[in-house]
Amino acid sequence: MPNFSATLNVMIKAARKAARSLLKDFGEVEHLQASTKSPGDFVSKADLRAEKIIREELEHARPFYGWVGEESEEVIGKDPTRRWIVDPLDGTSNFLHGIPHWAISIALEHKKEIVIGVIHDPVKDEYYVAEKGNGAWLNEKRLRVSGRENMLEMLFATGIPFANKGGLSTTLKEINALMPRCSGLRRNGSAALDLAYVAAGRLDGYWERGLHSWDIAAGTLLIKEAGGLVNCLDKDFDPLLDGSVIAASNKVFQEFSDIISSAK
Ligand code: IPD
Repeated sequence: MPNFSATLNVMIKAARKAARSLLKDFGEVEHLQASTKSPGDFVSKADLRAEKIIREELEHARPFYGWVGEESEEVIGKDPTRRWIVDPLDGTSNFLHGIPHWAISIALEHKKEIVIGVIHDPVKDEYYVAEKGNGAWLNEKRLRVSGRENMLEMLFATGIPFANKGGLSTTLKEINALMPRCSGLRRNGSAALDLAYVAAGRLDGYWERGLHSWDIAAGTLLIKEAGGLVNCLDKDFDPLLDGSVIAASNKVFQEFSDIISSAK
């Protein structure tokens, strides 16, 4: 295990603290499933509480950094080159339905590049961390993307647009093109964990459109540090600015991207 930087340790501490609050709330929300009252408000409050905890921890340790979070306005820090990009609860729908697959995602950006990422899955007690140039880790284990070479043995994930999110027919065409070529597809409901799973070699690839920077900031660094490739869909551009992402092991990235981009 490498020596993690002081800043990464601050991020892990913030994630751990927020996790305690979210786990307590998740226990409550699991009991609400059979009730006719929607737990929506309760979950929004849980999300806000977690964001407050993370923000206080990070601001206390690094008062000059900026902030972008799912639940609040962007803040430009006194140090304009560094900012936190935070999703206190990625996988909100899973959380709301009592499904134990959601995560906290915290990234540090320096001069427009993600340099540290933490994704914490509190239910499974898994910490995925990466520092630029220092590899990616799951708890104490070094992460490598999948080594599978035959696409027919590979497992992929995506996010399927729901409610009034656009792009459903595009995603369905992409799924239609991919399914005959692989061993399966998952819609797990947390973009942060989908990226972490590609970094861990559990999934071979993942793509999705209509995302926010906080959903994917930490995960994109994990992929790179685990030896995988990540880009935005259809062009060579920053996924955080575009809101679309495609990530895979280096072995399949080209074939996978060709299938997805040809499915129009
Ligand atoms: C969502 C999850 C989901 C993805 C959605 C995201 P949230 O984030 O990552 O997997 O399909 O596009 O918005 O709202 O739970 O933080």
